[in-house]
Order: sequence, then structure tokens, then C-alpha cells
Amino acid sequence: MINHHLSQDLHRNQLRSEANKNFQGTPAAPLKLALCASYKIPKMINIQTERTTLVTLSKSSAEMVRNYYFENKAHLSLWEPARDYEFHTLEKWQEFISEYEDSFNSGTAVKFIALNKTKTEIIGVCNFSNIVHGVFQACNVGYSVAKKYESQGYMYEILSAAIKYIFEFVGMHRVMANYIPENDRSAAVLNRLGFEKEGYAKSYLKINGKWQDHILTSKINPGTGT
Ligand SMILES: CC(C)(COP(=O)(O)OP(=O)(O)OC[C@H]1O[C@@H](n2cnc3c(N)ncnc32)[C@H](O)[C@@H]1OP(=O)(O)O)[C@@H](O)C(=O)NCCC(=O)NCCS
Repeated sequence: MINHHLSQDLHRNQLRSEANKNFQGTPAAPLKLALCASYKIPKMINIQTERTTLVTLSKSSAEMVRNYYFENKAHLSLWEPARDYEFHTLEKWQEFISEYEDSFNSGTAVKFIALNKTKTEIIGVCNFSNIVHGVFQACNVGYSVAKKYESQGYMYEILSAAIKYIFEFVGMHRVMANYIPENDRSAAVLNRLGFEKEGYAKSYLKINGKWQDHILTSKINPGTGT
């Protein structure tokens, strides 16, 4: 169930410039984006899943998010960029969230935290970034689940709901997710969600302090036609 609270118009010009900035076109394919001019993302999104509530990242969740990353530091370290001391401070998270709110307002990112039913704890997170409209209508997704909630089907539950939102309300045609070949859990969850392998990128992302190969996958929105 999806509730929209404060609905907010996105600014077309901001969207166009952000989209151009984020579109990874080849030199032979100049950026000719026929941008969707008037889509709306509500400022507060609240999605109920069977065991969680997904809400968008906001300043009020800064401490909770900082705690999530701090408590799961060892669990996440193999699969995420190297994090310094500052990353786990409240000040840094307030800054990250401010930056995120700018990208949310310009329509290029939507970040969800999945809360337990009493809303006292983060079960997992999923972040949609590099949102581009026009002829591409695509974005990337990154995700994680707290160590103590791993292998209980939470990521499948969270991503199912979040991707449905991104397809139906943001109008994405393609969601891209990439993982290190050794990340069997990530491979399994993407496979179950219907992501298909599209390629293998050498030295793709700097994870845990070193450039690592990734398997590239995508899920296509069946609702956006042929
Ligand atoms: C990857 C991650 C998000 C999966 O979350 P999760 O809630 O455990 O995922 P689910 O329980 O929904 O699904 C896990 C899948 O892995 C499978 N699995 C569980 N343990 C496994 C193991 N040791 N090896 C391989 N597969 C395993 C499960 O059977 C399940 O597959 P299925 O749905 O086909 O049965 C979580 O492990 C995590 O946060 N890892 C650290 C961060 C990370 O890797 N992020 C992704 C970067 S690409």
C-alpha cells in the first residue's frame, strides 16, 4: 500500500540538467533526451510491505541510518566502498542527507530505508540513483540488509515493493543492479526478482578499497511497452 503525503512538483529545468549530467551516453550518441516534463515524486513516500515500512531517507532518520551503517560495518565491508571514521559520524550523515535531498528534489535519486513494524530499527536500505528520463528511463539500485535480518527473505520483500514504486510511480523502464561475482546472496536475490544478466564489467567499482569486476544485470518494466 502506498501513501503519498506532501506532493511536490519537480522543476523541469533542474531535471533536464541533472539528467544530462547523469546520462552515460557514448560520444557517438549525443544527449537528445526527450525528457518527461511533468512527473511527480511525492516528498514523503510510505510503502507497507508484509513485515516492513519503507520510507524515504530524511533528516529525522539521520541517527538511525548512522547506527545501521555503524552496527553493520563488518557485514557490509566486503561489498561496499571503504568507509573512513567520518562516514560513521552523525554530522556526516546529516550532510549526506542534505545532499541526497537536493538530488531527490531534482528527481535523480530516491533512497528508501525499510523499518521494522515498530519503526525503531532499520532492517535494510535500497537506493535508486542516476535516475534518467527521456529515451533511457533508467536508474541504478544499491541495497543491503542488516546482518541479523539476512537470509530471511527481507531483501526480496523490500526490493519487490521499492521496484514496483519506481516502475509505477517514477516511470522507470529499466532498473540496473551490479554485483561482485562472489556475492552469491546478491545474485540469488536479483535472480528471484527477475533481473537478467547483461554483461561483465572488469574493474568496475572501487569496493572495499580495490577496483573489482562486476556482473551487470537489469530488470525491465513490463508496463512501459515495447
Ligand atoms: C545481498 C543481501 C542484500 C541479501 O539480503 P537478504 O535479505 O539476505 O536476501 P533474501 O533473504 O531476500 O535472499 C537471499 C538469497 O540468498 C540465498 N542465500 C542465503 N544464504 C546464502 C549463501 N550463504 N550463499 C548463497 N546464497 C545464499 C537465499 O536462499 C536467497 O535466495 P532465494 O530467494 O533464491 O532463496 C544481504 O546479504 C546483504 O545485505 N549483504 C551485504 C551487502 C550486499 O552484498 N549488498 C549488495 C551489493 S551488490
